[in-house]
Amino acid sequence: MTGDLLDRCPTGIEGFDSLCEGGFVRNSDNLIVGGPGSGKSTFLLQFLWNGASMFGENGLYCSFEPDIIETLNDAIAHGWDFSKYSSEGKIKFMRFAPQTSIEELKSELKRIISRNNIKRICFDPVSVLALHLSEPGKIRNTIFELSTLMKRLRVTTVYADETLEGDGMHTPTGEWTKTDILRFLSDSVTIFHEAAIATGSDGADRAIRIVKMRRTNHIRTPVPMRIGTKGVEIAVNKGGASKKS
Ligand SMILES: Nc1ncnc2c1ncn2[C@@H]1O[C@H](COP(=O)(O)OP(=O)(O)O)[C@@H](O)[C@H]1O
Ligand SMILES: [Mg+2]
Repeated sequence: MTGDLLDRCPTGIEGFDSLCEGGFVRNSDNLIVGGPGSGKSTFLLQFLWNGASMFGENGLYCSFEPDIIETLNDAIAHGWDFSKYSSEGKIKFMRFAPQTSIEELKSELKRIISRNNIKRICFDPVSVLALHLSEPGKIRNTIFELSTLMKRLRVTTVYADETLEGDGMHTPTGEWTKTDILRFLSDSVTIFHEAAIATGSDGADRAIRIVKMRRTNHIRTPVPMRIGTKGVEIAVNKGGASKKS
């Protein structure tokens, strides 16, 4: 099967979609990894905003950050005033305490996703889920259960995960982060670099790199990215990835 025949869930960020045959694979789970300020939350908010405004798809933003108002204000600064969509039940914002058990999380998500016909869901930052768990086995089970449920409910999921330094896949000491299992489980992994490792002619001073995306012939090299008033911007790759034969 070629990528063209697969149902895609476009991010609506033209430059990103052009790197990966039109966007995420629908009903897949996708991981965004990056350091602080690398643009993860911006990308997630933009994915949901575009979902509602361009594709008429309902979305859910699950935050594990202490203050969801801050996130909403960040969105407004980019011109994404979610209040209309929120009052219409099209985009929901939920804050979960880090201590929320996986059972509680799952039952709440099941309820909201079916009641609001949610098609896109974001978890930001998913690493918080592992904060109160010390046993690697428990962390893996939690992530696995969440990921399995999202697949079963047929939503397209984007997880943001934090990394401090290194290439986003390894810390400088070579250790994995607590939520490393996501890098193996997820259908796609994209690294957001806050420092320039590729420089664009249009002032792009950041970069992203799609490390893997199942069933997709994607660009694998770092691609310049910038964050501006309209959010994440990536130059459109006119050729796309070379077509599979
Ligand atoms: N209007 C803007 N113009 C340029 N850069 C911006 C703008 N708004 C936010 N940023 C950049 O985006 C960063 C925040 O990105 P964010 O998505 O919150 O990162 P993360 O979730 O990875 O920590 C800020 O630190 C700033 O560098
Ligand atoms: Mg963030």
